[in-house]
Amino acid sequence: MRNRLHGYYDEVGLGPVPQPCEPFPSFDEERLDIVLELRPKVVSFHFGLPDTKIVQQLKEAGCVLLCSATTVSEARQIEAAGVNAIIAQGYEAGGHRGTFTGDPAIDTVGTMALVPQIVDAVRVPVIAAGGIFDGRGIAASFALGASGVQIGTAFLACPEANVQPVYRAGLRAASDESTSVARCFTGRPARVVRNRFVLEMAGEEDAALEFPLQASLALPLSMAVDESRRADFLPIWAGQGVAKLREMTATALVEKLVAEAGP
Ligand SMILES: Cc1cc2nc3c(=O)[nH]c(=O)nc-3n(C[C@H](O)[C@H](O)[C@H](O)COP(=O)(O)O)c2cc1C
Repeated sequence: MRNRLHGYYDEVGLGPVPQPCEPFPSFDEERLDIVLELRPKVVSFHFGLPDTKIVQQLKEAGCVLLCSATTVSEARQIEAAGVNAIIAQGYEAGGHRGTFTGDPAIDTVGTMALVPQIVDAVRVPVIAAGGIFDGRGIAASFALGASGVQIGTAFLACPEANVQPVYRAGLRAASDESTSVARCFTGRPARVVRNRFVLEMAGEEDAALEFPLQASLALPLSMAVDESRRADFLPIWAGQGVAKLREMTATALVEKLVAEAGP
């Protein structure tokens, strides 16, 4: 993996591959203090829950807690930790998998199978996520027992989405067959539109560093190249419904989704 990265670093003129480092701040005391001060109505965790004390503090501050689960076992653990609602994230979903137990390689349960199984396994409300892009997906989620839906990819085509032109172009060109789950960008499995980096790194997935160290080596590549080559290295996070994106404002999209889903 390092040899291949050296090749890319040479190609884009970045110099030698650096030592990996922590590229993102983690959810530490300082950040917890900010959340406790701001008291948002909802706090949503995606890579598993922080420790019980933090969960307790956030609940005492009046925050509603959500956490993503990608299996029934994760959903049970989240419920036992006292969260208010569980996001059942199916394999279709765009972006990072919320998986936090077991082997990411076998974290592949699709939304349609996952939602009713989690609904049957827990008592807290379940929010369906993954592959929902229009009213049909919302209606189906409710039929499966979900109390709500979380939609990500469908909003990427809205003008409010802070994505680069090359990202928008990648979304527009994508079909139902265009995405894969890959660890090459950050070290955690994430669904992304396949580009040169994903395809060429595919044989070296096992050698990717643990999250977030891999990001400190992979993400500088897309920033270093000019726009004409950026699509080769940029992570275009998107789910399996990417071909059905509708370009309209977020407000118009929400209104459309609600109208399509029916009463
Ligand atoms: C570009 C992008 C960024 C995302 N970032 C986050 C995030 O920061 N935190 C989070 O909990 N989920 C994040 N998600 C995942 C969504 O919460 C959700 O699971 C997913 O988008 C649902 O599937 P869909 O993309 O098919 O609608 C992201 C998804 C996308 C597409």
